[in-house]
Amino acid sequence: MSFDLLAPHYRWMEALCAAGQLQRCRTALLASVSAPQRVLIYGEGNGRFLVELCRRFPEARVTVVEASVVMIELARARMKREGLAGAQVEFIHADALTWQPPVAAFDLIVTCFFLDCFRVDQLQKLVPAIASAAAADGLWLHADFQIVPAGLRRVCSQVIVGGLYAFFRRVTRLPAHELVNVESYLSAAGFSKWERREFVLGLLFCECWKRGEIASHDRRIT
Ligand SMILES: C[S@@+](CC[C@H](N)C(=O)[O-])C[C@H]1O[C@@H](n2cnc3c(N)ncnc32)[C@H](O)[C@@H]1O
Repeated sequence: MSFDLLAPHYRWMEALCAAGQLQRCRTALLASVSAPQRVLIYGEGNGRFLVELCRRFPEARVTVVEASVVMIELARARMKREGLAGAQVEFIHADALTWQPPVAAFDLIVTCFFLDCFRVDQLQKLVPAIASAAAADGLWLHADFQIVPAGLRRVCSQVIVGGLYAFFRRVTRLPAHELVNVESYLSAAGFSKWERREFVLGLLFCECWKRGEIASHDRRIT
């Protein structure tokens, strides 16, 4: 699997296919996060989320784990162009399936359109490994596609997501061939869903999960 070939085309393809909706979805819940000190981003891609994160939280120390060298180069170049070359960002070129994060070291974890790259058997190990990196009260921002539960929108989402997998599997040799609902893995790893938004008629969602139980006065989802 490699996103290297696709990386130079990722930005214009996103602009053409999704206008600003993917970026809206990635960044929507940043407003819910109070200034994190250490952030761990998996599969950041070309740096669009990273730029917004560093603008909003200039004091944060950020670790990016990314398997594509070309994506890392693009993200570095974007940070420079946006005047953020001085931000405290460490890029780690590694396969998330084998890279071991430091335990309980991060107060914010981010997986935007990343967990959809993996099969069930991979997610069963990957999600607990990622979760182990979260501090006791850590947050996990997660954004992805979903198959809408019912109606015509369900058919549309199935066609779009099916098309995306066919394309990505061909171009990047992605191991996954279908979307996996990761909710049960996050819950089993000790996280509780705190906030959720949907975009593009439910095709995209972003969620903020909190490590541990959520007190009733703090609930944002009923
Ligand atoms: C679908 S792209 C999403 C990029 C970006 N987060 C976004 O929101 O558009 C998936 C990203 O995860 C990276 N990736 C996929 N599998 C990976 C792995 N096993 N380890 C680390 N990064 C991986 C890819 O190189 C790519 O940059």
